[in-house]
Amino acid sequence: MRILSGIQTSGSLHLGNYFGMMKRMIDYQENNELFCFLVNYHALTTVFDAESLRRQTYEAACDFLALGLDPDKSVFWIQSDVPEVTELTWLLSNVTGVGLLERSHSYKDKTAKGIPASNGLFSYPVLMAADILLFGGEKVPVGKDQKQHLEIARDIAIRFNHTYGETFIIPEADIEEDSAVVPGIDGQKMSKSYGNAIEIFADEKTLREKVMRIVTDSTPVDEPKPLEGNVLFKLYSLFLDPREKIALKERFLTPGLKYGVVKKELFSLIWEYFEPYRKERKRLAQDKQFVLETMRKGARKAREVASIYLERARHNVGLDYWNI
Ligand code: ADP
Ligand code: TRP
Repeated sequence: MRILSGIQTSGSLHLGNYFGMMKRMIDYQENNELFCFLVNYHALTTVFDAESLRRQTYEAACDFLALGLDPDKSVFWIQSDVPEVTELTWLLSNVTGVGLLERSHSYKDKTAKGIPASNGLFSYPVLMAADILLFGGEKVPVGKDQKQHLEIARDIAIRFNHTYGETFIIPEADIEEDSAVVPGIDGQKMSKSYGNAIEIFADEKTLREKVMRIVTDSTPVDEPKPLEGNVLFKLYSLFLDPREKIALKERFLTPGLKYGVVKKELFSLIWEYFEPYRKERKRLAQDKQFVLETMRKGARKAREVASIYLERARHNVGLDYWNI
């Protein structure tokens, strides 16, 4: 099965990205064909500082590699190193109804937050569809926030195939119940842009402060704690296996549990969980040559696959005028 997904290089990666997408991708690489990329063209819709974009792209590459993405077992690249994707975006644009894009929640949310309503932001889902279709992605691991984008990609692929003949595989979203929406420290969806994220590679002091700031309800210590909507419980559970999760549930339901104590435990758990990766992350950040070479090799592999789908699409729409 060909598994494919991308992540924006618009800020430091966090627990929502990790459990919603990155960890699942890394786990998939063992028994599947894995295609993983860093979407810096997409990041251009919200990042207008060139230096930040460069740094965040490089750091996201280090993050993935440090967390265990193996460039020999997968195809791992940076979106802008495969510019064919922008050509496919144009071909797809002509079978994409404006109404479909106007219904995008993500576009409405971002413009409501003050992000400029550019054509790039509006056609973001078309570029995302091109990302998937250009490599024949079958299953796309994402968090729930990307569900609608995946539906748009499917609609575009179906419309293209219908108009021009069978060209693309129709992709499917792969959303996992437990990590579909990882809450941030304020209880909203964790996001790079909401200031509520717990970053994977935060330093010790920042991580401790963030965990201590997780919102809790005001249930008195000597009463059972609610589980529904409990941000602390939800975040803690992400690090546990099913048996440990049951034990945690029992602790929350037993009067006497102090949220402050649980927060300290959670801080240690997160810090230790990422400890081995942190060391590798530090090493990679200093080995620029290795990281850049790895990304270049990945792009070469990705371009081979891309050219197959792009040539097919160019032929099917009739750009190959020489074949008259
Ligand atoms: P952000 O919202 O922080 O900018 P992205 O849009 O770059 O994150 O998301 C990258 C990937 O991580 C996507 O697959 C997205 O669905 C997933 N993701 C982001 N935030 C969360 C979250 N809070 N819970 C689950 N998955 C998430
Ligand atoms: N829109 C996705 C996000 O914000 C990132 C993305 C771009 C993507 N292209 C993709 C995800 C292709 C999956 C497949 O997270």
